[in-house]
Amino acid sequence: MEGVQSPLSNIVLSQDEIHAPFGGVVPELASRQHLKSIGYVVEESLGRARVKLRDIDAFAATQGPGLIGSLLVGLSFAKGLAYYFQKPLFGIDHVEAHIEAAFMEHKDIPFPALALLVSGGHTSLFSLAKKLSLSLIGKTRDDAAGEALDKIAKFLNLGYPGGPVIEKLAEEGDPKRFPFALPRMTDRSLDFSFSGLKTAALKQIKEHRISASHPALADFLASFEEAVARYLLDNLARSLQVHRAESLILCGGVARNKRLRLSFEDFARAQALKSFIPSARLCSDNAAMVGALAFEKLGESGEYRDARKVRELILSGLDLDAYPRK
Ligand code: KG4
Ligand code: ZN
Repeated sequence: MEGVQSPLSNIVLSQDEIHAPFGGVVPELASRQHLKSIGYVVEESLGRARVKLRDIDAFAATQGPGLIGSLLVGLSFAKGLAYYFQKPLFGIDHVEAHIEAAFMEHKDIPFPALALLVSGGHTSLFSLAKKLSLSLIGKTRDDAAGEALDKIAKFLNLGYPGGPVIEKLAEEGDPKRFPFALPRMTDRSLDFSFSGLKTAALKQIKEHRISASHPALADFLASFEEAVARYLLDNLARSLQVHRAESLILCGGVARNKRLRLSFEDFARAQALKSFIPSARLCSDNAAMVGALAFEKLGESGEYRDARKVRELILSGLDLDAYPRK
């Protein structure tokens, strides 16, 4: 059990089609869909990995933060398996799992590191003294970066989720055509405010009458995408003035964005720092990053070999509760 292995299977069943008509995730529909598909997804994942349930050493489920109904479906399902097969159950933090995605593909990330998590629910900056030792140094005070992209796409009737739709439509656009002033915190904090950037975008939309069929749509979206990337990196640059780092990590669903990936790498190079970004598949929500973190915890404890410890881990697993936020 040395280090993290590559996943034997990683099944992602997207719910995008179900939520698309609403332009955002509908919590009730999300948990109902989880309930309907979890059995099939687990079976498919075991089948592709050619593994039987009875061969599993430990189970894991995301504990939070997230939508409580969906979290409870996964956690209850995992509790059932752990109890039936008498194996340890690990409750995994969603944020830690997103950061773990970077370590799955890169074993030698130098510390200290700064990690920027950008998703639909989070825009947070962490300082990592070592693996799994996170301290939060900045977070969004309102919208997350992905949420801002999703809301602008929804406002322009472009489809859902907004991030990939905007990326596609912005491909040929001129990112300099529409200037965006970056929001500034009045204090010296490293927090973000994407609601400010979203308001600036809405103002431009009204002023220039931008719509889904406007000839300057691609330029506008490229400019907005660029502003999101610039704002993230601007804050990262300010963080580096107060937090020492040997390397920079970018993760979360928005880290799939090519413009952001490229500017992140350029930025790191200019700072003479190493940069690490998980491959696109491991950036979006996925079970492999959750399993990988549990695998680390299991290996770390070595306790799965000791029957009494296993019993304790099963009991503590059954006590786990989902949390919507930290
Ligand atoms: O990490 P994730 O899969 O789920 C959450 O934990 O939120 O992130 C989803 C977010 C959505 O806001 C989506 O629009 C955004 O990631 N996203 C992108 C891209 N692909 C997904 N944003 C920009 N460019 C993309 N290619
Ligand atoms: Zn996520």
